[in-house]
Amino acid sequence: MDLKHIRNFSIIAHIDHGKSTLADRLLEITGTIEKRKMQDQVLDSMELERERGITIKMTPVRMVYHPPQINADFTQTNADKRGGEEFLYSDLTYKLRGAFFEVRKKIGLGHKESVYHNALEIEFAKAGIKFESKKNIPILYEGKNIGVYQPDFVIEDKVIIELKALPEIGRQQTEQVWSYLKGCSYRLALLVNYGSTDLEIKRVVYDTARDSFASSGQRTSASNQRESAGVSNQVSYILNLIDTPGHIDFSYEVSRALKAVEGALLLVDATQGVQAQTLSVLAMAKEAGLVIIPAVNKVDSPLARTAEVKQEVMKLLDCSEEDVLEVSGKTGQGVAHLLEEIVRRVPPPVEEIPESGSFRGLVFDFKYSTHTGVIVYIRGFDGSVRKGEKLLFKVANREFTPIEVGIFMPAETPCEVLGAGEIGYIVTGIKEPGIASVGDTITMVRKPLPELAGYMTPRPVVWASVYPENADDFNLLRQALGRLRLSDSSFSYEEESSGLLGRGFRCGFLGMLHLEIITERLRREFQLELVVTTPSITYEVVDKRGKRSIYYSPTLFPEYGEIEKVFEPWVAVTIISPSDYLGPITQLLFKHEAVVGETTTWNDNRTSIELEMPLRELMRNFFDELKSASSGFASLSYKIGELREADVVKLDILVADEVVSAFSRVVSRKRVEEEAEAAVDKLFNILPRQMFTTKIQGKALGRIMSSQTLSAMKKDVTQHMYGGDITRKMKLRKKQKKGKKKMKELGRGRANIPQDVFIKMMRSE
Ligand code: GTP
Repeated sequence: MDLKHIRNFSIIAHIDHGKSTLADRLLEITGTIEKRKMQDQVLDSMELERERGITIKMTPVRMVYHPPQINADFTQTNADKRGGEEFLYSDLTYKLRGAFFEVRKKIGLGHKESVYHNALEIEFAKAGIKFESKKNIPILYEGKNIGVYQPDFVIEDKVIIELKALPEIGRQQTEQVWSYLKGCSYRLALLVNYGSTDLEIKRVVYDTARDSFASSGQRTSASNQRESAGVSNQVSYILNLIDTPGHIDFSYEVSRALKAVEGALLLVDATQGVQAQTLSVLAMAKEAGLVIIPAVNKVDSPLARTAEVKQEVMKLLDCSEEDVLEVSGKTGQGVAHLLEEIVRRVPPPVEEIPESGSFRGLVFDFKYSTHTGVIVYIRGFDGSVRKGEKLLFKVANREFTPIEVGIFMPAETPCEVLGAGEIGYIVTGIKEPGIASVGDTITMVRKPLPELAGYMTPRPVVWASVYPENADDFNLLRQALGRLRLSDSSFSYEEESSGLLGRGFRCGFLGMLHLEIITERLRREFQLELVVTTPSITYEVVDKRGKRSIYYSPTLFPEYGEIEKVFEPWVAVTIISPSDYLGPITQLLFKHEAVVGETTTWNDNRTSIELEMPLRELMRNFFDELKSASSGFASLSYKIGELREADVVKLDILVADEVVSAFSRVVSRKRVEEEAEAAVDKLFNILPRQMFTTKIQGKALGRIMSSQTLSAMKKDVTQHMYGGDITRKMKLRKKQKKGKKKMKELGRGRANIPQDVFIKMMRSE
């Protein structure tokens, strides 16, 4: 595959700004999936993804794109009427268009050509565009000089400008310019007409590639050279798209996708404008050095504020209006043009070590098949690979012989060769876990190449213990976790046991949604009934003897008296909200111990706030509270930052004098009483009555902070007696009381806490 005809890109956006819907349209327009087979959000293949309408895993897909028929004679003022013209020197063209329009704006229409000429000289100089005025260009015919052509301008020795002030440009003018181009070495002319009703700009491109294709069916070296600079309609392009998840919990997936592509399509919802995660994903794309194509999406919506949102995006990217595309994933408006722009603006991949005689690819994801073992998703960087060729996982230092190589159409489709610049998969045949890892490099055994820069291992942010409700399911749970880990390398787990809950696993997640998704998948895909403990974060504790330890389970968190210092992670947060909600948001920030930094007010009466807060506070239902404080209008993104000293203590919840470790939590010391009371009250309200009177207590700092007593379940032991002797009834009741006392003394008086109580306790208040 010729690298010049490959484009690799990702779609990035704030959650729900329409990535998956737009991806559907791209698949449809390129014919990757027939319209009748199309179902909404094709790339969201997981049942859970469809149900919730969110993307959890990134999905690669390869599309074959045939640019539409060339049309050298067209007007560019209406972007959507473009017919697939070569977009040669696009950056320069954009700058020039800016100057032409500026002149129109300043002096209007109806002047003589020379007036526009002089005005443009001033405008070009202001915009820093290098130009030559009235340059003599020799015109050749069959190698002989037959005359001189003097266009109005030659720009940066690349583009010819022919100025007109005619009622309109006819075919004659276009053909004349075309014939000049044919006789000189320039390829692009702009025919600019300050006409009677409007400014008209026509691009005239001369491309010998077309002639040579048509006549001989072979490319000459000259035509190859020409093609490399622009987009030809004579070839098909391979577009590899990696759709990415939008929720912050999955930003690790986004960062991996971005390392495998050269361009990113940044979508901004026309009804919402730039949101917090627009900023964070944009920062990631910039860091990865990608070409960014901004597009305002959902322009079909009656609520769309397209012009305003375009201005926001222009400001954000410091680009011109023309750079920002307008699309609707729903109606398909502007999508054909978007495809052209992807080919034009995203650079083709380049081999890092050309002619190496070996293969090198980056593992950006992998999955497991019981049949064939681990299947790695790779981005080829050098050389090419076929099945049967001995390969090596560079970091894991493990050799294997691929059973199959293939591409995503979007279903996995085997192919003969997978080369540099391409995105595809390799079936490794490796069945044991732990060999494949995201970020590893695959190269050839016979000539290994150095490893590529991999990825940072993601740090779990939230921890929770997962226990099978039925102790017999422990092994099944272990297998299920192992299996999930094979398709989600950002999640980790280790075995642990608890007196009350038996054997289970302490699991690390990237965030609350990630936790919810994994536990839901365990339930659905493996039919496991689970008990999940209150999520917690990691603390670093220095004890009185100066020993530093890391705790990610509140049960093990040391007692107050043993602690010298505690450190906890902080997060850097960006919030964007309509300014009207600043009051309630500020109150909320105060309540959550936030340190507010810079705030910026935007033109459209929205404010962005930069702040820092303990991760612990972010986990304390902050997101939901922010949504309600702003009637759902505020958006948030965060990045895990450094550790800072914390004033926190462990709060235990006791039921019938026994600590229920699943309910233990680490809380701010300032709020320990309040938290103890809330937890005890909550449990008091949801715990079913027991056979005996049950005390529910919150304990911290070595003392009981709050307490409630749940009265015993009253079974009427005298129910079978109709009327009758009162002394007999009293006797029976006395016996019952004695029985209960004995049960408690014998230790059988353990409270029975049903599973849904654990779940309800875990749910935020
Ligand atoms: P995540 O993957 O969860 O981040 O979401 P996403 O960005 O992929 O968004 P998705 O494509 O799931 O669309 C979100 C919502 O916006 C859905 O309800 C879509 O129907 C709606 N939507 C998407 N594109 C358009 C559009 O062009 N116009 C209109 N009016 N609605 C759209």
